[in-house]
Amino acid sequence: MEKKKPYFYVTASIPYVNGDPHIGHALEFFEVDMIARYARQQYGSDQVIAVTGTDENSLKNVLAAEKVGQDIETFVSEHSKTFRDLYETLNLSFNDFIRTRETRHILGAQKFWNAFKPEDVYKKSYEGLYCVGCEMFYTKEECQEGICATHKTPLEIIKEENYFFKLSNYQQQLLELIESDKLKIYPPEKRNEILSFIRGGLEDFSISRSQERAKNWGVPVPNDPTQVMYVWVDALSNYINILGFATDDDRYKHFWEESQHRIHVIGKDIIRFHAVYWPAMLLSAGLPLPTEMYVHGFFTVDGQKISKSLGNVIDPNEIVKEYGLDAIRYYLLRELPYASDGNVSKERIEERYSELANVLGNLVHRVAAMAKNYFEGNIDIDFTPDVEVEEQLAQSMRIFNLKEYTDIVYDLMKKVNEYIDKEKPFTVFKTDPEATKVILSKAAREIRLIAKYLWPIIPNTSEEIERRYQNGNLQTGEPLFPRRDTNDQK
Ligand code: ME8
Repeated sequence: MEKKKPYFYVTASIPYVNGDPHIGHALEFFEVDMIARYARQQYGSDQVIAVTGTDENSLKNVLAAEKVGQDIETFVSEHSKTFRDLYETLNLSFNDFIRTRETRHILGAQKFWNAFKPEDVYKKSYEGLYCVGCEMFYTKEECQEGICATHKTPLEIIKEENYFFKLSNYQQQLLELIESDKLKIYPPEKRNEILSFIRGGLEDFSISRSQERAKNWGVPVPNDPTQVMYVWVDALSNYINILGFATDDDRYKHFWEESQHRIHVIGKDIIRFHAVYWPAMLLSAGLPLPTEMYVHGFFTVDGQKISKSLGNVIDPNEIVKEYGLDAIRYYLLRELPYASDGNVSKERIEERYSELANVLGNLVHRVAAMAKNYFEGNIDIDFTPDVEVEEQLAQSMRIFNLKEYTDIVYDLMKKVNEYIDKEKPFTVFKTDPEATKVILSKAAREIRLIAKYLWPIIPNTSEEIERRYQNGNLQTGEPLFPRRDTNDQK
């Protein structure tokens, strides 16, 4: 049987396992899940795959394990599992998960390395300022007084002989690819940022570490036992290794080379790796590039950077326990501005929760309750899509403006509630039951459409609404978003 051509491959970055998942990771997974679910609605489930995994070969993972006195293999396995468990607890519709300790990854990373053009790789003795938190070298100009701007820790002076990648060979080609939108970067602010970075001149970068400095942890460089790969080189190749770059040619070709969309969702701090290093290395290896990247901003907590030392790391499992999964999915996806940072606060979560309870929950309940009371649930639903709204949603999704998409659906919920307030079916029923039926039928259609549009954002709620809103058989049920105790006290 001929295989159907896949359309869509979307990835989240693979988190380091030096700590447990936080709200920033949850956000990125929800974004990828939203994009993938939307694509599944458009193209069919079997044409879309979404993935992530864990980035385990980093030196900072080794240091974290040493700090708690644990064996590194055990440490990374345990932490990797806390990320993998999110597939269930966050209801992520992902298709695979890769650990960079797996054989399929190690073989893939080495195959990728071997595919670089020989003239792009050379050995050089080097001295530079290194931040292990960022896992990168900085120039003197980039960091004031030898302190890392992100981690606020002193940079180490590192001197060693490493392999280098001739990034300067790809400056022009990368510029052309991004300027011509063959490689699309969203939002436009991030596209401009990376274009000016490339125009500023690209310096070759070191792609290996001495075994000694890497503490014998990492992917060995082929044919050189003294060196391991720079963690970003191996980590980036996860995006093809998970598909079977070295281990499953058919699957790899199918989902990478033949996909119409190869999309990476990443945070703003790792754009350089994804929009410069990764495409340059793919060009050198003669492999297709990603087609699109969506770069999201950062969440702060009560205005402060999320950090272990500040003790403000929000565990996604905890807030999901407190507010319910869909409330948190909705909150995070509606809260983060498209092209800047956002802030997490309990007050805002409460506000968004009330919005779901009072606008969506109320709407779904009251229309079904009237249908039940007046017509035993027997209301016809016309499933014709709303072309205009769907165009707007598609437009937002095309540029990965997930907040705008969510806002459009929210406005629709509000509009249908207002429609009911205005048409007053509860009053009309006294004199004209047929007219009431028409009003309820129109509202029910809108509610079914809202459920469809909400599926990428809050799938459980969407599916529950669809169960209650069957053609000719509307049902009521438990409140979708029950009143919270804190609201009752207000
Ligand atoms: O960067 N708000 O891993 P990571 C939103 N292993 N997003 C945030 C965030 C915040 N406060 N903090 C982090 C790595 N992120 C590498 C990736 S991919 C080949 C290797 C985002 O655990 C961050 O921007 O530090 C990144 O996209 C993701 O979480 C994982 O970050």
